[in-house]
Amino acid sequence: MQFTDTETQTLDIDAAQLCQQYGSPLYVYQGSIIRRKVQALQEAFSGVTMKIKYACKANTNLAVLRLMRELGVELDVVSPGEFEMGKYAGYAPEQMTFTPSGVPYEEVRTAVDEGATVNVDSISLLEWFGQTYGSSKPCLIRLKPNVTAGGHDKIMTAHPDSKFGISVTLLDDILAFVNKYSINVIGLHQHTGSDIKEAEPFLKAARVLFEAAMHFPNLQIIDLGGGFKVGYKPDDAVTDMQHLGAEITEGFRAFCARYGRELQLWFEPGKYLVSECGYLLTTATVVKEDPARTFVHVDSGLNHLIRPMMYGSYHHILNTTNPDGPLKTYNVVGYICETDTFATDRELPEVRPGDVLAFLNAGAYGFTMSSNYNARYRPAEVLVDQGEARLVRRRETLDDLLRTQIDL
Ligand code: LLP
Repeated sequence: MQFTDTETQTLDIDAAQLCQQYGSPLYVYQGSIIRRKVQALQEAFSGVTMKIKYACKANTNLAVLRLMRELGVELDVVSPGEFEMGKYAGYAPEQMTFTPSGVPYEEVRTAVDEGATVNVDSISLLEWFGQTYGSSKPCLIRLKPNVTAGGHDKIMTAHPDSKFGISVTLLDDILAFVNKYSINVIGLHQHTGSDIKEAEPFLKAARVLFEAAMHFPNLQIIDLGGGFKVGYKPDDAVTDMQHLGAEITEGFRAFCARYGRELQLWFEPGKYLVSECGYLLTTATVVKEDPARTFVHVDSGLNHLIRPMMYGSYHHILNTTNPDGPLKTYNVVGYICETDTFATDRELPEVRPGDVLAFLNAGAYGFTMSSNYNARYRPAEVLVDQGEARLVRRRETLDDLLRTQIDL
């Protein structure tokens, strides 16, 4: 069957056949959608010097990282693991920004010594950076602009109570350490949160950075983070990238004129680039006609896609085997020994055991947030690109679960 559910989502490969060939459950990514998203972002900001640093926490499959690299997209990494994965995929350290969140300084040292640029996220890290490197290495400073926006409490990262970044109200302290150690601050960074639809929060945060920037004479970069909203529901409002591009471009140009120099504008999107490209294909196992509800169990759970349970996120579901069946109302649930409800009171074409159900928008924070809970194996991943479906990660086996255990 063809996925034709939302305007951006078409998968012209048979879901049942993919599951037959590679097993179920299965993550499938469509390269054409990644290509299209990169292009749309580049076009929206063609009026400024813009760089995309893909927030690879969203999806670190090597094939996805390599595709990003091929498309001229650089990386935002948050751990030594992501840094190493980036290198493995062919990125030079200089193409990666390390955006830590209270990590051990040694992690920062490794990344910086190899050539990555760090987004300094605390006063104490700033002091350590100054003592360690003086002016010999460049850095960006991650400011907390005190802007509240995002799709869920857990993914808002710039409000006053958020743990992330250095509050902009501490600017005097920041400047004191920068001056004391002659720290080479080449950029200011912020990330407001995830699932931000409107332009206003981005503009608000940008204005905070622009004001602060006037205290730093050697800037080259303003990094506005990620967080663009994608459409999880077919009729969801999403970030209007053309509009956002026009608004930010105007403000950024005015700022550069005031600053007296052309700067680069950086973004670090995760979801925007890879959410819509991904599907989690699952198979209905049991249809339970309970007096209260009808439950559809699938051969997956919070171990493979935790977003619905963690953030109450909506993922659209298609019955790819019986798309024209009569509509019925279901709770779609997982097989884990927890209440792992994917969807409540969801209308779907009648589901029979064996039907392949596709969860849409599973390309971002799907596999990367998966686990081995209940000693379940993580699924395989397939990349469909330029007319070819390729296995890009094999399904786990018992050996993978036992590999790190010491059998005394
Ligand atoms: N930059 C920084 C510093 C970030 O912390 C994040 C996401 C991003 C960029 C990318 O944000 P995006 O464009 O993907 O919204 N697991 C949650 C999202 C957590 C995002 C964490 N940081 C979810 O599935 O909704």
